[in-house]
Amino acid sequence: MRTKPLAVAALLSTSIPVHAVFERTYHSSPLAIQPLTVLVRAPSYDPQNSTLFLVCPTGSAIAQPSPVIYDSTGELVWADPTIGGCNDLNLQTYNGKKVLTFWAGNGNPGTGVQVGNGTARIFDEAYRSVANVSAVNPGGGTDLHEFRIVQPENKTALVTAYTPVPADLSVVGGPKEGWYLNAIIQEVDIASGRVLFNWTSFDHIALTESYNNISQAEDGLSSQTAWDAVHINSIEKDSHGNYLISARHTWTVYNIDGRDGQILWRLGGKNSSFTVTGNDTADAQFHWQHDARWRGSNVISLFDDGAAVLGGTFVINEPVATGKFFQLDLERKTVQLVNRFIPAPNAGPSFAEGSTEVYGSQVVVGYGSNPWLTVHDLTTQQLLFSAVIGPNNSTLWLGGITNYRVYQTSTNEFIGRPQTTPAVTAERDSLGALSVYVSWNGATQVVNYALLTGADAGSVKGTLRTVQRTGFETQISGEGSEGYVQVAALAKDGSVLGTSAVVPVPTVPLV
Ligand SMILES: *[C@@H]1O[C@H](CO)[C@@H](O)[C@H](O)[C@H]1NC(C)=O
Ligand SMILES: *[C@@H]1O[C@H](CO)[C@@H](O)[C@H](O)[C@H]1NC(C)=O
Ligand SMILES: *[C@@H]1O[C@H](CO)[C@@H](O)[C@H](O)[C@H]1NC(C)=O
Ligand SMILES: *[C@@H]1O[C@H](CO)[C@@H](O)[C@H](O)[C@H]1NC(C)=O
Ligand SMILES: *[C@@H]1O[C@H](CO)[C@@H](O)[C@H](O)[C@H]1NC(C)=O
Ligand SMILES: *[C@@H]1O[C@H](CO)[C@@H](O)[C@H](O)[C@H]1NC(C)=O
Ligand SMILES: *[C@@H]1O[C@H](CO)[C@@H](O)[C@H](O)[C@H]1NC(C)=O
Ligand SMILES: *[C@@H]1O[C@H](CO)[C@@H](O)[C@H](O)[C@H]1NC(C)=O
Ligand SMILES: *[C@@H]1O[C@H](CO)[C@@H](O)[C@H](O)[C@H]1NC(C)=O
Ligand SMILES: *[C@@H]1O[C@H](CO)[C@@H](O)[C@H](O)[C@H]1NC(C)=O
Repeated sequence: MRTKPLAVAALLSTSIPVHAVFERTYHSSPLAIQPLTVLVRAPSYDPQNSTLFLVCPTGSAIAQPSPVIYDSTGELVWADPTIGGCNDLNLQTYNGKKVLTFWAGNGNPGTGVQVGNGTARIFDEAYRSVANVSAVNPGGGTDLHEFRIVQPENKTALVTAYTPVPADLSVVGGPKEGWYLNAIIQEVDIASGRVLFNWTSFDHIALTESYNNISQAEDGLSSQTAWDAVHINSIEKDSHGNYLISARHTWTVYNIDGRDGQILWRLGGKNSSFTVTGNDTADAQFHWQHDARWRGSNVISLFDDGAAVLGGTFVINEPVATGKFFQLDLERKTVQLVNRFIPAPNAGPSFAEGSTEVYGSQVVVGYGSNPWLTVHDLTTQQLLFSAVIGPNNSTLWLGGITNYRVYQTSTNEFIGRPQTTPAVTAERDSLGALSVYVSWNGATQVVNYALLTGADAGSVKGTLRTVQRTGFETQISGEGSEGYVQVAALAKDGSVLGTSAVVPVPTVPLV
């Protein structure tokens, strides 16, 4: 629908792409995925290495756009580039089952078209497609910014959509016969596709609430350059049936009545319903924010980008993007900043995207157009873990590698059971030494690999050696192999999770 690229990428993509420069590649798999580079890891952090990070790296330095799961040692766990560009990979509950959810399609909040036209998708633990969800929006399809299954009912989903509508924009200095990019939120029944709630920004939010300077940004003269006044990027439904939405371009979090769509109150922006109190009033503001979530009945967390790019202009309102928690007094209508999570060792404003999520006693912050993630203790704010998607190379940020949100799960909550078998290749190095390389994309329970061998393809059964899985791909010495090899993937209890194809051992090259 919209062809105008986000200026971040337009400005910075000159020295990019750098495909096949930094990606990790494998002997047994054609995947070429950026590494997760770990910069800080507290000794107490994730002792069993069971944490999984769910991301969708995109950008001009990404050779294989795909949903990606990494573990906390930085190793790849799963990627499927046949899916293509995605956003918002998450683990949610649908129909009583743990599912992987994401949005896939055209558009990219960090480096391409600012809003998306795609499909919200649901995969089971075997990485099979079990449902697709779409907004009902003939003018723009299903947007990439939100796909949240409403809990505990686990039957309906919240999605965003955008569509250009004709509008008089003269009140903000735009054309009288202009175009407005209407932000739509819908709650959709997943099984039937029926729209249960439909709400648009144009019907409820004054043009004058916007901070998206129409002279700097889109001109609003055509449907292709419709003015993105509000830019909704998160929706959450509370237990009263009301919707909390984050609107980046009005710097406002709105609470919307689930019965009639009226705005119950605004937090932030030009017309906040709340007065800032507490001793940190300066930092209690937020700009260009993402991912507003309830954390209990009167605390809201969000990711405060502190910056944006409007047209070709970098707008920096805060020097560093941070995760923030606000305590609301809903009677007195006061708000105070109660927690702030600051990135390290890299720090700076984020020009797009980002998330602040809570897992037990930890907070995971994703910095969006800066492809960093940090994990902090929720109470003490102590930095426990810090990593970068891709190398620790600032040249690649701002459009080279970006990531919309960072969600987390663990190998205790999510059991990846791929439908494939382990992939194996047997190779000799230049000295003739034989190695067998094995990987099993998406398998989360493999602890050991057993190398089996036999003189011919039909007689492979003797176990030559058993080695620990060392990461996405494990190298096994092939010394002593007969003519054929096969690898069995073993669980912690020694049971066989899967066996590879039988492959011939390459002959020793004549020197
Ligand atoms: C990562 O890069 C930043 C500069 O962008 C530097 O300050 C930091 O020390 C680097 N960290 C590591 C662990 O290399
Ligand atoms: C976790 O990963 C680290 C780094 O790769 C490794 O040193 C450590 O032994 C692993 N711990 C466990 C319990 O596997
Ligand atoms: C969802 O859409 C994809 C892409 O069009 C398709 O391959 C897949 O079969 C669909 N899944 C279901 C459950 O309909
Ligand atoms: C959205 O994408 C679909 C599939 O590519 C296409 O048929 C449709 O025309 C697009 N809609 C808009 C409004 O661009
Ligand atoms: C979640 O969905 C399942 C299957 O439809 C249903 O049985 C269960 O009651 C739902 N959970 C809740 C809390 O509503
Ligand atoms: C949602 O509301 C908009 C504006 O009021 C309207 O144009 C559109 O048809 C509605 N969509 C649905 C699916 O009800
Ligand atoms: C909006 O942008 C124009 C053109 O760059 C500039 O002259 C004006 O000061 C800006 N207004 C605000 C409120 O920033
Ligand atoms: C400001 O908010 C109040 C309610 O809190 C609302 O009545 C009023 O219309 C809003 N003003 C504008 C300009 O949106
Ligand atoms: C505010 O100041 C008081 C007293 O100096 C201090 O105890 C409290 O932790 C401060 N609160 C915040 C949010 O910084
Ligand atoms: C960082 O990335 C840029 C762009 O690809 C590359 O030119 C440069 O060599 C990289 N720097 C390091 C230290 O790898």
